[in-house]
Amino acid sequence: MLNMPATSSFLMPVYTRQPLSFVRGLGAILWDEDGIEYLDAIAGVAVTNIGHAHPEVARALAEQADLLLHTSNMFGIPWQERLSEQLCALSGMQRGFFCNSGAEANETALKLARLHANSLGISQPQVLVMENSFHGRTFATLAATGNPAVHRGFEPLMPGFVRLPYDDIGALQQAAAATPNIVAVLVEPVQGEGGVRPASPAYLQALRRLCDEHNWLFMVDEVQTGMGRTGAWFGYQHSAVLPDVITLAKGLGNGFPIGACLARGKAATLLAPGSHGSTFGGSPLACRVGCAVIEVMQREQLPGRAARLGERLLQGLRAGLHGAPGIVGIRGQGLMVGIELDRACEELVYRALAQERLLISVTRGRTIRLLPPLICSDAQIDDIVRRLTRLLN
Ligand SMILES: Cc1ncc(COP(=O)(O)O)c(C=O)c1O
Repeated sequence: MLNMPATSSFLMPVYTRQPLSFVRGLGAILWDEDGIEYLDAIAGVAVTNIGHAHPEVARALAEQADLLLHTSNMFGIPWQERLSEQLCALSGMQRGFFCNSGAEANETALKLARLHANSLGISQPQVLVMENSFHGRTFATLAATGNPAVHRGFEPLMPGFVRLPYDDIGALQQAAAATPNIVAVLVEPVQGEGGVRPASPAYLQALRRLCDEHNWLFMVDEVQTGMGRTGAWFGYQHSAVLPDVITLAKGLGNGFPIGACLARGKAATLLAPGSHGSTFGGSPLACRVGCAVIEVMQREQLPGRAARLGERLLQGLRAGLHGAPGIVGIRGQGLMVGIELDRACEELVYRALAQERLLISVTRGRTIRLLPPLICSDAQIDDIVRRLTRLLN
């Protein structure tokens, strides 16, 4: 139903909502209150990677809810141990800390950078962050974020960040030579909120080299790119580099809130009892769901499928939109695809729903962002292309 009131007076008006509610989902399909069917090409913003109402996620939730929801981190949590071991095996990291969101995962990484500085006797540490980045809405992560709209009204911002142009090796080298007290770098392998911009492998490799040369922590924000989204388990794996710290959330719980900060080497040893924590982080419920998600992804080889489907989506869009008015570029990695237009296009989100029964998002005002679930069929990917082609032509 596309005419219900968009806001409720009992909610803080934080979001611009579409005039529509969904009541049910299955795989890449959603149904609204009137039973009308929609094709989901955003997966709850890169969250429901293995699809809506996945039976194994539902079973993990139900079975664990029947046994034990929460005991606190004062006790051993075998599902947390198991999830951390599995994530470390997939990522090349050595230890994990669990929390409940991407912003908290990045807070943890930034606290590791501070502890690293402290261990080196650096009292005014700087973390390199990028223009156009997004890392979250808490005070530290919004300061790390490279978008003035995210900062507005929350000044003074937390100090200790140096901002550089993204994917620019020269700017990195200049900063390394000119800026004292750098202790870490925080970077997204593909800027998602920033308009779907993949970094070049050479850039991530240059970052790794500089971090080694200067004893900085190489921290990669995989909140959006992680868990298979880009066609590898983690975005940095396309560049054959190994970070010191990575952060995860979104797809890890397929909709159940969970975040993680994983680290290796010195970075994995910096936190000590009492130095960090989370009441809800790493609950038996959240971690059992995370294990179920990984099991499905491994069995169905979903990172590889995302790579193949992403190629199909890009090629389909390039063919279908060839000659369409106002297309500046079509780019992406795996099932993270952006179509940049020469004009603001937020209204397309509503038109895609109303005319094509298709969920899309628009980021940075003029880039259509597609993040379909990794379990989409070939036919569903072709259907996304067909509906978008009609919309944009
Ligand atoms: C790259 C990146 N980092 C961090 C976040 C923040 O995650 P959360 O909203 O779970 O706090 C997001 C959310 O969009 C993100 O895309």
